[in-house]
Amino acid sequence: MDWGMRNRLSKIINPKDGRTLMLAVDHGYFLGPTTGLEKFREYVEPLVPYADTLFATRGMIRSSINPDIKTPIMLRNSGGTSILNKELLHEGITVDIEDVIRMNAVGIGYSITVGMPWERDTILDFSRVVDACERYGLIAMAVTAVGKELKRDARYLGLATRMAAEHGAHIVKTYYCDGFDKVVDACPVPIVMAGGKKIPEIDALTMAYNAIQAGAAGVDMGRNIFQSEDPVAMIRAVRELIHHDATPREALQFYEEHRQASGSRKKSGIAADDTKKI
Ligand code: R5P
Repeated sequence: MDWGMRNRLSKIINPKDGRTLMLAVDHGYFLGPTTGLEKFREYVEPLVPYADTLFATRGMIRSSINPDIKTPIMLRNSGGTSILNKELLHEGITVDIEDVIRMNAVGIGYSITVGMPWERDTILDFSRVVDACERYGLIAMAVTAVGKELKRDARYLGLATRMAAEHGAHIVKTYYCDGFDKVVDACPVPIVMAGGKKIPEIDALTMAYNAIQAGAAGVDMGRNIFQSEDPVAMIRAVRELIHHDATPREALQFYEEHRQASGSRKKSGIAADDTKKI
């Protein structure tokens, strides 16, 4: 790994503890105004100072995020289908590598779809993206997207994460499962855990804690932060887990203590149920 790539990786994964809290707010690229992200600037900007990296689309970064932020950006670099499409996740490359550089992003995230009819397309495209990232010292993160019909178990996720690494991913983002340590052990590059659909705060904190105990470098979490009743308190609680070795109970206590008295944020946009499909 050359100097530029190592430098960019160190901006994502803290070299002091080898961990990262990535905030995933890219969901609109196929879900549109996802619950909790409708007013993107208003909802996301308060979370940014607590994230080690922001994972979003170039359109939302350009239109809705202040360019003065210090937080590094990872750009969603795959897409092409919507939640209404039967071939959801039949994705292709969406951002030219020159624009990734122009945006001063540290890298990209690309979904591969192992076990789905278009796995070959997404894996070959991902390999092209890795080539481009290697050329410019950018970080390529593979996201192991999972179709509804596939089981998110250690066998499947072990296959998908290992394939991602074999095809050159520098970081792999995947879902938590029983036996997650086996998934991590067989993947030679850092794994970050996607949060998945919104679940109670204690369950999300426990899942993140278990993923880290199993060897994950951290999380790239979205809905369990921005759909929380208090997203700022929740991202800070996740931070306690990741960088300060809090237990799930301690992190929940932190969340409760830091919740705003004003309570929940008014939500609008698509039904929360729609986000359960990913
Ligand atoms: C996945 O590919 C999505 O675009 C999100 O980045 C990912 O699912 C992580 O967000 P969440 O924690 O909401 O699952």
